[in-house]
Amino acid sequence: MSVDLSREDGVAVLTVNRPDALNAFDVATLSDLRDHLRQLAEESEARVVILTGAGDRAFAAGADIKYMSGLDVDGAKKWGELGHEVGHLLETMPKPTIAAINGFALGGGCELALACDFRYASSNAKLGQPEVNLGIIPGWGGTQRLARVVGLGLAKELVLTGRVIDADEALRIGLVNAVYEPGELMPKTLEVARGLAAKAPLALAAAKEAVNRALAGDHGDNLDREADYFGELFSSEDATEGMTAFVAKREPRFTGR
Ligand code: CAA
Repeated sequence: MSVDLSREDGVAVLTVNRPDALNAFDVATLSDLRDHLRQLAEESEARVVILTGAGDRAFAAGADIKYMSGLDVDGAKKWGELGHEVGHLLETMPKPTIAAINGFALGGGCELALACDFRYASSNAKLGQPEVNLGIIPGWGGTQRLARVVGLGLAKELVLTGRVIDADEALRIGLVNAVYEPGELMPKTLEVARGLAAKAPLALAAAKEAVNRALAGDHGDNLDREADYFGELFSSEDATEGMTAFVAKREPRFTGR
């Protein structure tokens, strides 16, 4: 298997495991990641998903350039579609997804991190969209998601120059949420994930879907949808539990119903 899955309580950790190629995605690795994500999206026991890379050098150095060098137009379009499906799963599955960026996150690696809900980086991380240096462009969502995360001006600069940035710059421009020393990255990421796993899953799913709409579609429609979700959650046992626990000055125990 080229992507390892481990579980700890409600937290699923997916580790891209091709360290000899700096965790670059070939067809087997990307298909394996897609299959894991499809399964985790459906599993109620998996409350949070973390995506990271094996070893201490790379999250993922992008799509496998050796594989791509033999693709024709149809093959490249299918390859792009597979990457888009993986990004879509990370972005829309009804539970939080977190990228723990433990080194290079380049090209498709940066794009899949961008599809996650949060990004935490180690201080030795390097991020960028260097595809233009290969005569191509980001093909797994980078042209759209990078602009949404860091703004149009910076996204254009990074995509058109292919400039690779360090973790501190990524933090400054909002590309990552926090930076930790390499040994602290997974402990800190797991701490956040465990906190999320203890929250009400229906509220997290509704919150994620509502916020995902913030930069797309009609603002008025999106506000109407937020009002619907807000109201509908009042029929959940977890909303009753959360508000009752607050009033009783005790910790809530959420069940996902
Ligand atoms: N594809 C295939 N193999 C890769 C790879 C990639 N994206 N990135 C690294 N590797 C392989 C190298 O070929 C090398 O393997 P061999 O030892 O068998 O030659 C191994 O990983 C280690 O890499 P380097 O020797 O190059 O390590 P380095 O420390 O000198 O450089 C690096 C590290 C700067 C990340 C450099 O490897 C690099 O520039 N990699 C390519 C990054 C890139 O351009 N990514 C974008 C890919 S295109 C894409 O992702 C398209 C898309 O949008 C979907």
